[in-house]
Amino acid sequence: MISVFVNGYGNIGRRLATALSMDKEIQFVGVAKYTVDDKVKEALENRFNVYVPEEMISAFKEKGYSVTGSVKDAVKHSEIVIDAAKEGGGYDNKKSLYEPMNKPAIFQGGEDRHGDRAVADMIHNSRVNYSKAAGRTYVIQGSCNVSGMGRVMQPLIEKFGDRIGRYDVELVRRWADLEDTKAVKDSIEWDRNPHHQDDVKDFISSANLYVDAFKVPSRMMHLHQMFIRFSGKAPTKDEILECFGNEFGVAIISSANGTGDVRKKAIELGFAHGDTNMVHIHQDILRVQDDTVKIAYSDDQTGMVIPENHMLLQSMVFKRPREEAMKRTDSLFQMSKKRRILEEEFK
Ligand SMILES: NC(=O)c1ccc[n+]([C@@H]2O[C@H](COP(=O)([O-])OP(=O)(O)OC[C@H]3O[C@@H](n4cnc5c(N)ncnc54)[C@H](OP(=O)(O)O)[C@@H]3O)[C@@H](O)[C@H]2O)c1
Repeated sequence: MISVFVNGYGNIGRRLATALSMDKEIQFVGVAKYTVDDKVKEALENRFNVYVPEEMISAFKEKGYSVTGSVKDAVKHSEIVIDAAKEGGGYDNKKSLYEPMNKPAIFQGGEDRHGDRAVADMIHNSRVNYSKAAGRTYVIQGSCNVSGMGRVMQPLIEKFGDRIGRYDVELVRRWADLEDTKAVKDSIEWDRNPHHQDDVKDFISSANLYVDAFKVPSRMMHLHQMFIRFSGKAPTKDEILECFGNEFGVAIISSANGTGDVRKKAIELGFAHGDTNMVHIHQDILRVQDDTVKIAYSDDQTGMVIPENHMLLQSMVFKRPREEAMKRTDSLFQMSKKRRILEEEFK
């Protein structure tokens, strides 16, 4: 048994809590809340212990919320923390809590890998560098987009290697998550300096990769259009799809008309939090043209990184072989089953 605390209870923290509290080899310490709002009620109804900053305990209690203790206490009593703070907040937590208390931590993809506010010197992608995280104190779990790109690129690299000359990816990003209260702006916005390219190169250093990112007024997943240039003639569509026939966390679907179809189906099927936890290759628009393969896949922004965090935990703490970790993660998230269901629903 290992004791794990999730510092934060936003879109990612909430999902981590659901999954980790069901894992029998984890003693789930609880979650942190920083704002007195009705999400505290939700956490308590889900039977999670709620920890808050010391100076706010009375404010939470005044509103009638039962608080187990301070965030500092929770960190002290945990063997590892999964930080789920909003982007950039993980660095401050590292400095004020984890480092002084010598606690290992996993950070999320919104944290910096380089520069003054870097939190770790490694970005994890379970498909690529799982075993490199074993025994480390601080590791960043790559963001949803970065996790998805690694999951699609690595099988292609293993099969086609030097035949691939270059990748160009257009990331079409959702504006907000389903649970977010912020308005969705009617605009298509570009990112002048997307971090995804450098993040992917952190674990696939040889990739000749160029990424552009556009945010669109949608709450329903990301869509990546990946252009892969080969030296000479590109492989056939079947050869490309063969790479993903047995890939963990990849579904191959045909009849969805958009990301909303996939998300709504996951909700309708009762998948936890409406997540599929994977990428979905839309084979109906997979095109091979001369030297170029164009793959479009939707990427479950909220769900992708939750099993990834679970895999990372198993590498960092249990130093388990990847195959064994995958089996445990699959059994917790039922990803192979979800894949089969989605492939049947969208055949
Ligand atoms: N959303 C996604 O689809 C997604 C996907 C992959 C990765 N990520 C990454 O995951 C991280 C969290 O994103 P999110 O979408 O879950 O954000 P979010 O929904 O905005 O939630 C952020 C959480 O941070 C909490 N918080 C405030 N101050 C904190 C502190 N000092 N320490 C810890 N937590 C604190 C907030 O608590 P209160 O509500 O109580 O104030 C809130 O629960 C980011 O790095 C993000 O880039 C997000």
